[in-house]
Amino acid sequence: MAFTVFQSALFSNPSLFSRRRTFNFCIQFSSFSTASAFPSDKFQLHKKWRQPVSSVLELGGVKIAKDEIVRDDPTNNVPDSIFSKLGMQLHRRDQHPLGILKNAIYDYFDTNYPKKFDKFDDLCPIVSTIANFDDVLVPADHVSRSYNDTYYVDSETVLRCHTSAHQAELLRGGHTHFLVTGDVYRRDSIDSTHYPVFHQMEGVRVFTPVDWEASGNDATSYAAEDLKKCLEGLARHLFGGVEMRWIDTYFPFTNPSFELEIYFQDGWLEVLGCGVTEQEILKRSGRVDNVAWAFGLGLERLAMVLFDIPDIRLFWSNDERFTSQFSKGQLGIKFKPFSKYPPCYKDMSFWISDSFTENNLCEVVRGIAGDLVEEVKLIDNFTNKKGMTSHCYRIAYRSMERSLTDEEINDLQWRVREQVETKLRVVLR
Ligand code: PHE
Repeated sequence: MAFTVFQSALFSNPSLFSRRRTFNFCIQFSSFSTASAFPSDKFQLHKKWRQPVSSVLELGGVKIAKDEIVRDDPTNNVPDSIFSKLGMQLHRRDQHPLGILKNAIYDYFDTNYPKKFDKFDDLCPIVSTIANFDDVLVPADHVSRSYNDTYYVDSETVLRCHTSAHQAELLRGGHTHFLVTGDVYRRDSIDSTHYPVFHQMEGVRVFTPVDWEASGNDATSYAAEDLKKCLEGLARHLFGGVEMRWIDTYFPFTNPSFELEIYFQDGWLEVLGCGVTEQEILKRSGRVDNVAWAFGLGLERLAMVLFDIPDIRLFWSNDERFTSQFSKGQLGIKFKPFSKYPPCYKDMSFWISDSFTENNLCEVVRGIAGDLVEEVKLIDNFTNKKGMTSHCYRIAYRSMERSLTDEEINDLQWRVREQVETKLRVVLR
């Protein structure tokens, strides 16, 4: 799903509101059933055509077999390509732009709140639907719960779609000041700023009555003011003396809720979402008398601006011409594109079926072309007199690292056409 220019705020768009199986490597939860909305056998063939990936993964010291995460059953929609990203933890590499940015944000909190914030960057990305949705009050019918938007391991377990999935668990564990950084997973469209795996940092701070009583302010206003002061300072720390503005918005887990925008290179850029934590979340974690704030920011979105990185796929590149440009602790460095390879465009038209979604199309294309696909864009859409709807998509293929041959692209496109027809039940025109 597309939001603003960059990916990050699944919950910020108001128009969106909007077999018992637990993993020994994750916290155990009681049985909870989420209705399966995954259409029949859409991904049944995926094992036959996906790239082979290593079959066991080590996550936080625990071994996870691929067949626990990628399965041929209707409650599972995790493809091999996503499994292969689990455990990569780009945000933990000090020489990687995402790690450099994470450390720069840590520096801000360490300087301004010495020894206050507990930091987590190694929490398991496989979480229960309770942690990902219920614990942060995401309504039962919210679009983010759909199989079209979220990767389900089974009907009760997902790949976290935001770092807010850890808020309640950490509050229950007694933490009152914390930062959580991690990889998050969302089924989405394809373009230079959207990738199905990206990274977020969550921040939470809890206050007790002594904090706000002396101020003469009510608890909520006190927390909101403190939150804005803290985040304006963070934006200045990262971007220097920039113009900023606050926009009122909606999140299920905060009230009031805000977005911070900064004026950067001739436009307003949304930097993060935040707000005063819903009282219900605090109450459930045994903190009735407290008030708290929370924020969530997308690391790629900020890193693309700070390091001049033009395409989100580059974060995953092992090409030395990319990786060698960044060093530990150096936030200001501007990325120099090593070379521009030409894109190749292929159009594809088909009559859609009722169950067709763009996210499913993008999953098929990524499954075949991997990081060679740069964009999938709807360029024509009409419904004929018989009520049949036709879509024409333009697929841009381009490698960040080399020139692609005509033969290679034709082969990819041929396989995409074949898979789109069989998996998505559309009729090619
Ligand atoms: N979880 C929200 C998102 O992914 C961001 C957020 C976090 C907003 C915490 C408010 C408070 O869009």
